[in-house]
Amino acid sequence: MQKFYTIYTFYTAKLKNWLYGGVMEALNASGVCRKYGKQEVLKDFSLEMAPGSFEALMGPSGSGKSTFLHLAAGLLSADAGEILVGGSDIVKMSDAAATKFRRRHIGVVFQSFNLLNEKTVRDNIVLPLRLDGAKVDEERLKSLVSALGIADILSKKPEELSGGERQRVAIARALIASPDVVLADEPTGDLDAKASKAICSLLRDLNGKEKSAILVVTHDPQVAATASKVHFLKDGKIAASYATEGDAEMVSKRYLETYRS
Ligand SMILES: Nc1ncnc2c1ncn2[C@@H]1O[C@H](COP(=O)(O)OP(=O)(O)OP(=O)(O)O)[C@@H](O)[C@H]1O
Ligand SMILES: [Mg+2]
Repeated sequence: MQKFYTIYTFYTAKLKNWLYGGVMEALNASGVCRKYGKQEVLKDFSLEMAPGSFEALMGPSGSGKSTFLHLAAGLLSADAGEILVGGSDIVKMSDAAATKFRRRHIGVVFQSFNLLNEKTVRDNIVLPLRLDGAKVDEERLKSLVSALGIADILSKKPEELSGGERQRVAIARALIASPDVVLADEPTGDLDAKASKAICSLLRDLNGKEKSAILVVTHDPQVAATASKVHFLKDGKIAASYATEGDAEMVSKRYLETYRS
């Protein structure tokens, strides 16, 4: 029944899109609420992202950025609201349906990496494809790992890697299946400035070539400025959104303005 509902919402959204000639958002969150005990982390949170957009989400520690990413990835349940990913409401899916949907359509880079310690780097990267019974595109794997500078460590285990290397493995795993939406939680948090810049250009490149919509959570204005738009999360919702125009100084200025008041 759940499967039927997921297929039904997906195709009705596609049909509406075709009928009305509009662009179906890659991600459309509306009225999302999520509490932890009595703490209201997200309160009527809404965010829309067009297909192929590259946007950043910023906010102080504890403002709910990771909570939103987990909700949008179907890893956490919402108390209210909907989150449509390519037209399908991931919040309403069963755990099993969300897992399957995520493997095919969403690439997640977790703040804590979530790599499997007993598996090699290569096996960690191709895991979403293996779980989905899909073939590994060796060419894509090769170009991804060389762009990320991890081609030489494919046979190592995560515990033998530095924090920055682990982070790059987690990014490769999120991108391997060419997802429609990439949700990246501080993907450069453990990297130095040079590696961070390389990741930003890789994400930008991917965004241009494959039309994946990318939402990057970051504390770094330089990273946010790589995106076209930046959203500031405050009091459980998006308090302000700006075009970045690639200007990190402007992002810092807007950040201070938003959180000063
Ligand atoms: N499993 C949980 N149980 C209880 N409270 C939680 C849980 N996960 C998160 N929280 C609380 O929800 C709030 C938002 O957490 P979240 O991880 O989304 O913040 P964040 O914006 O990602 O912060 P950071 O920048 O530090 O990663 C925090 O106050 C946190 O303590
Ligand atoms: Mg977080």
